[in-house]
This record gives sequence, structure tokens and C-alpha cells, in this order.
Amino acid sequence: MSFVASMIEKARSYGNRLVLPEGNEPRTVKAARKILDEKIAREVFLLGVRSDVETTAGNNDVSLDGITVIDPAESPWLDDFSATYFEKRKAKGITEDQARKDMSHVLRFGAMMVKKGFADSMVAGAENTTGDVLRAGLTVIGTAPGSKTASSCFVMDMKNDAWGAGGLLIFSDCAVIPTPTSEQLADIAVSAAKSCREFSGAEPVVALLSFSTRGSGGKDENVLRVQEAVSLLKERNPGFLFDGEMQLDAALVPSVTEKKAPGSPVNGKVNTLVFPDLGAGNIGYKLVQRLGGADAYGPFLQGFACPISDLSRGCTVDDIVTTSAVTLVQAGKKT
Ligand code: ACO
Repeated sequence: MSFVASMIEKARSYGNRLVLPEGNEPRTVKAARKILDEKIAREVFLLGVRSDVETTAGNNDVSLDGITVIDPAESPWLDDFSATYFEKRKAKGITEDQARKDMSHVLRFGAMMVKKGFADSMVAGAENTTGDVLRAGLTVIGTAPGSKTASSCFVMDMKNDAWGAGGLLIFSDCAVIPTPTSEQLADIAVSAAKSCREFSGAEPVVALLSFSTRGSGGKDENVLRVQEAVSLLKERNPGFLFDGEMQLDAALVPSVTEKKAPGSPVNGKVNTLVFPDLGAGNIGYKLVQRLGGADAYGPFLQGFACPISDLSRGCTVDDIVTTSAVTLVQAGKKT
């Protein structure tokens, strides 16, 4: 079964609830209809001024039957959401007025719906920037217990079962943190491992990549940064196999692993690649996609306390449906 089909099937069986904050955006409204009709979510919320959402739906021949439309500014939840947001952000100098204004915005309101448990997952970004979606998630939801870092991953379908978990490899981080510290790299590895479990069903086996294997690159600060991340992971005892710092071939090709990293616990089993920085990760996934012919799915956000996803502003209706299925799967089975 393809990655997309497996996510849709899993999302259906979980029966979670989805909030799509960009209720005035035609592709989002069409996706909401499809997600509900195909039972990928049990309930779908669209946010925005009700008459605007209705006009967008009408102009696109989309029925809103069964879809719940919420206007944040008119919502009975607004007082409570604003008070919660004010408490969370007051140490940062926010006023009560500003908290209410911020919370009236669809992105932060949608994120608070997920934080408060009125929805299980949020997907946005068809018209808002990545930075705005991420900031809404960071300031309202925050990071998962035990992690200080929100990051992202791609699922690479290699179309060849010999690689990773039945042909799937997790690449991380390819979209959020330009130059992660050692602590952030360790967090990224833990989040990527969780993503591997969620998206492939396989036990994660993680390689922390570098241009150096076991010190071959000397004392360069980028090598030391990855080595320190591996030490931090060892202290955390995270419950999955990992090794690093290691070059890509030492991670993926057993004969090279034997030469460069003899005795490595990940030899022949790696399904999750953690890149040393965003440059490597972003270029890496595009090389594998464009030159290697793999299908690239993502970026999917990870490390948040509750699942949210960002879309490309060039996304299609089907991209929104797929990303929604994945984000609903990240919420786990609730009932
Ligand atoms: N994890 C956890 N917390 C974070 C992170 C993170 N990755 N980034 C920022 N924060 C915190 C900040 O410390 C801040 O906390 P505070 O207000 O409680 O003190 C809060 O979140 C808000 O951060 P800002 O300062 O408003 O945001 P910042 O300027 O740091 O930008 C952002 C953060 C939006 C995530 C930025 O790093 C970004 O835009 N990254 C995306 C990079 C990009 O362009 N990606 C596209 C790649 S291409 C592709 O998608 C394939």
C-alpha cells in the first residue's frame, strides 16, 4: 500500500477531528468537503467570518453540510482562549488586549482549539506563510514534553523495499531550523524517531549524519556539534537504536559501515536520517527526489505538543487532504 493510502486508511480508523483555519481559501474549503465525505476526519472545522466562508463555498459549488464554521471573533470560546493565551505569554510582555487580538486570528484560534482538545489536529498554510503557521504553533501549543524543539521531516518513498522501512526513509530536519545546536539535534533525532514509528510503523533506527565518521573529520565545529548531540542522546537513553556522527554511505551501505564504523548498532538497518543542518537536509531530500526519483512527502512538523502541519502556498486540494490525513494520524488513536 502506498504511503498516502496507508495514512488515509489509518486516519479513517482513528476518527479524529480536524481544524482548517483558512476557511476563506477555496482549496481549503474543497479539501474540507473531501475529508469529511471520505471520512478521513470525524469532524471538520473551518474558521473565518461566517458569510465569507459561505461565499467562498458557494463560489466553488461546495456544500458546507456537516462542516462546522466558527468565526473566532464571535465565538463563545474567545474569552477563555484569550485568558489562556495571556497567561502563557504575559511574561513576554503581552497585554490582555493584544492577547484577545492575537486569539481572534484564525491561526492562533485554530491552534488553541487543538491545545484545548476541541480538535485533534490543525492544518494551515495554503495562504499563510510557514513562519506564521509555525509561530502560531510555537506560541499557543508549544513543544512536546521532554523536547524544546519543533522541527520537521519528510517521508521519502524510495520505491525500493531494500531501503529503510519497506522502502520508506525519514529525513529530518529539512524545513525548520537553519543551524541546530547539539541539544536541538538530539531533540530532532527523538522527534524523527517518533515520526518513523507513526509514518512507517517500524521501530526507528537513526543515523546522525555528518561529513565525518567517528572523528575522521577532526575537530571541525560542525563535527563536534553532531558528536555532542550523540552524547546527549546516549544520556537520554531514548529507546531506539542510533549512531553518529557518520557519513551517509557509512549509514546506509553495510559494507561501508563495516569499514568506517565497525560494530555500529545501526548497520544495515537505518530508516531515519538526521541531517546536521537545514542546508544539508533541504538539499538532501531534493537530490533524492529529483535525481533519485523518490516520492517526497512533507514537510510534516514534529516536536509540537499537539499535531499541526504547514502547507506550501502552492498546494493542491489533494495535498491538503494528504497532509490532513498525516496530521490526523499524528494525533494518535483517541477512542
Ligand atoms: N522550536 C521551538 N521553539 C522555537 C523554535 C523551534 N524550532 N523556533 C522559535 N521558537 C520559539 C522562540 O524561541 C520564541 O519563543 P518565545 O517567544 O517564547 O521566547 C517563539 O518560538 C516565537 O519565535 P519567534 O522569535 O517569533 O520566531 P523566530 O524568528 O525564531 O522564527 C521560525 C521561528 C518561524 C520557526 C523560523 O525559524 C522559520 O521561519 N523557520 C522556517 C525556515 C524556512 O524558511 N523553512 C522553509 C524551508 S523550505 C521547505 O519547507 C521545504
